[in-house]
Amino acid sequence: MGVIKVENVTMQFGGVTAVNNLNIEVEKGRIEALIGPNGAGKTTAFNVITGVYAPTKGNVLYKDENITGLTPDKITKKGIARTFQNIRLFKNLTVLDNILIANHLRIKSNFMSSTFRMPWSKREEKQMREKSEMLLDKLGLLTLKNEIAHSLPYGEQRKLEIARALATDANVLLLDEPAAGMNPSETMELSSFIYNIRDEFNLTIFMIEHHMDLVMEISEKIYVLDFGQLIAQGTADEIKNNQRVIEAYLGVDEDA
Ligand SMILES: Nc1ncnc2c1ncn2[C@@H]1O[C@H](COP(=O)(O)OP(=O)(O)O)[C@@H](O)[C@H]1O
Ligand SMILES: [Mg+2]
Repeated sequence: MGVIKVENVTMQFGGVTAVNNLNIEVEKGRIEALIGPNGAGKTTAFNVITGVYAPTKGNVLYKDENITGLTPDKITKKGIARTFQNIRLFKNLTVLDNILIANHLRIKSNFMSSTFRMPWSKREEKQMREKSEMLLDKLGLLTLKNEIAHSLPYGEQRKLEIARALATDANVLLLDEPAAGMNPSETMELSSFIYNIRDEFNLTIFMIEHHMDLVMEISEKIYVLDFGQLIAQGTADEIKNNQRVIEAYLGVDEDA
């Protein structure tokens, strides 16, 4: 079943067509990838799926429900979470507080009751803390819970950002260049980390990534964008041997 469907989506910014008539169907429970040269429109596609932009044309479906044009917070509540190309964390807060805040955004605790510390709110807070610690434990981050986010090594900050996305109880996780800035050993570790969270949390994962060895190793299906256009889709082997993909990456001059 296609859990995320992008149907004929076009996204224009003024005169720039960042995404042109894009069709994607991410299968439930799989790890799939979106690749392509810089400026191809990958992040824009994620921004349309997550409600940052309403597409100029076309639709986004989540479990066959039309979610086109919903606000990002509504889309998060439906079960689609994401991370960002440039890490977004509360850098001066602890690891645990970063998770607690994500949890807060999800629960319905109203402002007054938390302000006056009503008993049920305290209980709720305790539950949230336990839930957050359990999440950190599952992700191997519990020993870091009192560390300040910006003091963590880069690879751990990336993991924390993923943890924060999962704290929203996501079913689908969109990762925008999760291995960006990672060294080869961190990248290797990330691939098993992604496998593990997929299985542990029953996730569907759709990721944008430039590290081709990582993409080829873990993706069950790969979509290739070039200048906003989908130029290929298929398995790692199919993509590796696709002439249009090779040309897009090598920047072959058609006049040459
Ligand atoms: N908010 C925006 N306003 C104007 N142009 C944008 C905006 N977002 C993206 N673009 C343009 O859309 C194109 C695709 O960008 P992007 O989706 O970030 O590419 P990628 O993630 O594949 O590197 C680029 O030409 C970029 O400048
Ligand atoms: Mg991008």
